Amino acid sequence: MEIRPITQNLGAEIRGIDLTSMDAEAHTTIEEAFSRYLVLCFREQKLEPGDMVELASRFGGLGETPYLSGLEDYPDVVPVIKEAFEKSHHTFGSGWHTDFTFQTCPPARTLLYAVDVPSKGGDTLFANLQEAYEALSQGMKENLSKLRAIHSATRSYGPDASLKDHLENMVITNEDKEPELQSHPVIRKHPVTMKPSLWINPTYTIGFEGMTEQESQPLLEYLNNLIVEERFRCKVVWTKGTLAMWDNRCTQHSASSDYAGHRREMWRVTTAGETPINFANG
Ligand code: SIN
Repeated sequence: MEIRPITQNLGAEIRGIDLTSMDAEAHTTIEEAFSRYLVLCFREQKLEPGDMVELASRFGGLGETPYLSGLEDYPDVVPVIKEAFEKSHHTFGSGWHTDFTFQTCPPARTLLYAVDVPSKGGDTLFANLQEAYEALSQGMKENLSKLRAIHSATRSYGPDASLKDHLENMVITNEDKEPELQSHPVIRKHPVTMKPSLWINPTYTIGFEGMTEQESQPLLEYLNNLIVEERFRCKVVWTKGTLAMWDNRCTQHSASSDYAGHRREMWRVTTAGETPINFANG
């Protein structure tokens, strides 16, 4: 297995492994690389939907996927599709976010497999939330470690959300009433590496617990801008047959909507997560 880092601090490309026949030794090597690089891109894979389910089981068990409909025979495998002829350029997953942080136990990982990709564009950007945390001053680290943030699905899947109108070839069901709010620590401790992450995102984090919207917004804006600075980012350029697996406990991502007139199809599964734990040491 060849592991080649994408940047100094985030992402690695992996070649020389067929994920459908991963043995225990390869699994251990992959888990070590995952803890180090947080986003892994396995090139030249040939996967069927059943393989995605099997891989999710090997990497922690399937997560719960509300709002998005999966493949008929594999409901946990969500086709993320943009056809060449669609009216809107808007891609599913564009806009920085961490997957499903509105859940009580948000998914630990997401696995995304490139079935069909445009010849150019449609890349996915990732940001390292551990590095973003480390860039904060000691005072800010200490203050944020006392805060919890409120997460909600409302902007994407609430009664008034327009995401589904931009994705004519995906089946998305909005809530008919305001979605439940979820409170999570702002500084999250990784359950495996114990490293702290600045764990908010502009799609699902709507404010800080015990603070008004007016009070929350300036701080959220500052932190959201910091997280996506170039120094914390890497870019995954997809090729057909690439499977990316990323860590939702310490990264954000954003899909690029820059391939109008071309087709892109991905299959997506998530793995089960744990209750986010506060990193209290500041
Ligand atoms: C996602 O956000 O789950 C999908 C990202 C992508 O299609 O690149």
